[in-house]
Amino acid sequence: MKKENVLITGCGGMLGLAVYDAFKEKYQNVVATDIDLNESWLSELDVRDIVQCEKIFNEVKPSIVVHLAALTDLEYCEMNQHDAWRTNALGTENVTLLAERYGATMVYISTAGIFDGEKDEYTDFDKPNPLSYYGKSKYHGEQFVERFSSKHYIFRAGWMMGGGVKKDKKFINKIFDQIFKGSTELKVVDDKLGTPTYTKDFAKAIVRIIDSGYFGLYNQVCGGSCSRFDVAEEFVKLLDLADKVKVTKVDSDYFKKEYFAPRPYSEKLINLKLNTRNINYMRHWKECLEEYAKEYHKLYHGKI
Ligand SMILES: NC(=O)c1ccc[n+]([C@@H]2O[C@H](COP(=O)([O-])OP(=O)(O)OC[C@H]3O[C@@H](n4cnc5c(N)ncnc54)[C@H](OP(=O)(O)O)[C@@H]3O)[C@@H](O)[C@H]2O)c1
Repeated sequence: MKKENVLITGCGGMLGLAVYDAFKEKYQNVVATDIDLNESWLSELDVRDIVQCEKIFNEVKPSIVVHLAALTDLEYCEMNQHDAWRTNALGTENVTLLAERYGATMVYISTAGIFDGEKDEYTDFDKPNPLSYYGKSKYHGEQFVERFSSKHYIFRAGWMMGGGVKKDKKFINKIFDQIFKGSTELKVVDDKLGTPTYTKDFAKAIVRIIDSGYFGLYNQVCGGSCSRFDVAEEFVKLLDLADKVKVTKVDSDYFKKEYFAPRPYSEKLINLKLNTRNINYMRHWKECLEEYAKEYHKLYHGKI
């Protein structure tokens, strides 16, 4: 066990659980924080509040800071741009400045959503051009970390899957929710491409990579790529519901009222740097989804 102090922000969300578990396995003192205190092991920290940030940094004196806190709902960010800037951009500035003051290694989680989707796929070296306010505010965070943190890692994730029924706010849980409520036909877009990113693989990989001392920015997504339709179809199959639930292709226009934030056509990332340095610990998305689907299968099968 390592004796260093680790401070995690935004740890109550869908990635937080996996990150907390992965760090607890290796580090003796892990302090997990969030504004939403949905677990007994979370302490309060609002990253927008520099005074609160100073207080917690002074208490924990971290040598590693894992900054997860963010507003991740794209529609909310479009409609509440100031809050998106205050949380995703200024919150990251606050945490980065204090990490630097305490000589800590800064770990920032970015997103494939900083690209415009004009290319089919993106390496770590492609130039971002975010379309949405979520993407813009997260890209500001990347740039600030790169500029003001002397020891940092930036990991860009794709379509996150993980956290289970309680915490997963994204695609898999939304699909499952529809099935659980009795839908026998799912309408799913096939004109959005990306790379799923399993929270457990992602978190474990971070713990391994920050030991390497190879600081910098990394795309870190699962192997393979797909459309939303491919993910939904695979998930339904893994739940053994292929004969009960039909997955029908639609285009993004079908959801344009509900999902009005601009989204790139392709958010496919390639882990070029991780592969070349031989430190790519991410499995193929289908293998990860098979593991993740078991959580849903176990909890709900037979009730559908
Ligand atoms: N989910 C994805 O598909 C995805 C993809 C790529 C990158 N990422 C990045 O991965 C990181 C973790 O996100 P996630 O997937 O775990 O999303 P999440 O489930 O939304 O978790 C983010 C957590 O941060 C909290 N938070 C919001 N404002 C805060 C503030 N001012 N101070 C402290 N905490 C605050 C959220 O609380 P509330 O729930 O109350 O807002 C939530 O518990 C984020 O930086 C995100 O941008 C996510």
